[in-house]
Amino acid sequence: MTPPQATATVAPRGLKNLLVADTQIGDVRGEEGFYHYRQYSAIELCEKRTLEDVWYLMLEGRLPSLAERETFIKETAPLREIPPDVAEALPVIAHGGDRFIPLDALRTAVSLTAYTLDFKPVLDCDAQTLRANALHLCALTPTLLTALYRLNRGERPVPPHPKLPYGANYLYMLTGAEPEPRHARAIEQYLTSTIDHGFNASTFTARVITSTGADVGAAITGAIGALSGPLHGGAPSRALEMLDLIGDPDNADAWIRDAVRHGKRIMGFGHRVYRTEDPRAIMLRRVAEELGGDIVEFAERVERTVVDVLAELKPGRRIYTNVEFYAGVVMELCGIPRRMFTPTFASSRVIGWCAHVLEQASDNVLIRPSARYTGPPPPQPIPDPA
Ligand code: ACO
Repeated sequence: MTPPQATATVAPRGLKNLLVADTQIGDVRGEEGFYHYRQYSAIELCEKRTLEDVWYLMLEGRLPSLAERETFIKETAPLREIPPDVAEALPVIAHGGDRFIPLDALRTAVSLTAYTLDFKPVLDCDAQTLRANALHLCALTPTLLTALYRLNRGERPVPPHPKLPYGANYLYMLTGAEPEPRHARAIEQYLTSTIDHGFNASTFTARVITSTGADVGAAITGAIGALSGPLHGGAPSRALEMLDLIGDPDNADAWIRDAVRHGKRIMGFGHRVYRTEDPRAIMLRRVAEELGGDIVEFAERVERTVVDVLAELKPGRRIYTNVEFYAGVVMELCGIPRRMFTPTFASSRVIGWCAHVLEQASDNVLIRPSARYTGPPPPQPIPDPA
């Protein structure tokens, strides 16, 4: 019998607050309400830079010059096109009527893409090939997602627009119409704000898979699977559904008190890491205000009521608005269907996952923790079949 390892330490349940790696990609400071990509405030990047610039920053480790930005756009634009073998299979994946779950379909399509494009195990690839694989999946994901959504509805996929930048092209491929610039910019800011957010479950999943030497497609497929869980991917659509249920801001106080009394969570509020306002919520509130509309005023009134009521009913908990509340409002105002809210979040998060894949691969060690066995003491005699 192998004796228990003298050096084994017991990690906190759920690995909460446990440092498991070094990273130069970014971090979240929950008490301050701050998060960053590389050495820059993520919110400031959303406000001052294009998504392509931030994509470049995440993969290359620095912001591009104007010339590098142009080269990067030229390099990535053709990668948005769906490879013919994958395109042929998409109608089968998109089939499913009302049962269709965009994120599950995307997971299948990404796996098929990596297989079709013959991605090699990370362990056997040089840095250039890895970067090319990562870039390809980042560029292709929005096209796959929007094509799957349209095919499921019996519509023809809209090919990427070679001249439109990332955010505008996403709305174009989803709706078939060139978006208003203010909608394109709002979605670009939202997508930029969700590229990375610390060592969350899907990011960790991507790194664990990469650590085994598997290919980039395996890591991203696994990460999408992790994000599809309601505890992680959440559901910005649920926050909007709550607004629908409240119906009128004057009902908000009674509705919220009743929900909390019945042990329900108010969707779009509270966060595992932030103990102050989620900086993404602050930015998206501003973006929503710029877009304007009745729903924004309504959401702001409900937000104030929720924060006040939760402060009263859950004293000392410090529960504020999280990213999902205004993400739902912004996406609704830009014409994104509710069903596509979480998948839209996933489409740019692929960039963050890929940055982590490249970082893990550049200094790899197999991630292989241990578990404490708590079953009956082994070895027990094996009973004869009864
Ligand atoms: N509504 C009502 N009460 C809440 C809420 C909420 N939204 N959030 C926390 N609380 C209360 C809990 O009931 C609990 O009260 P108790 O101690 O009296 O039982 C206390 O605050 C602490 O709750 P925890 O679940 O331990 O707090 P945690 O910080 O881990 O929760 C979570 C984070 C899961 C996000 C929670 O706030 C929640 O369920 N929010 C609603 C769902 C949501 O908006 N999810 C999206 C999160 S953003 C993202 O994932 C990208």
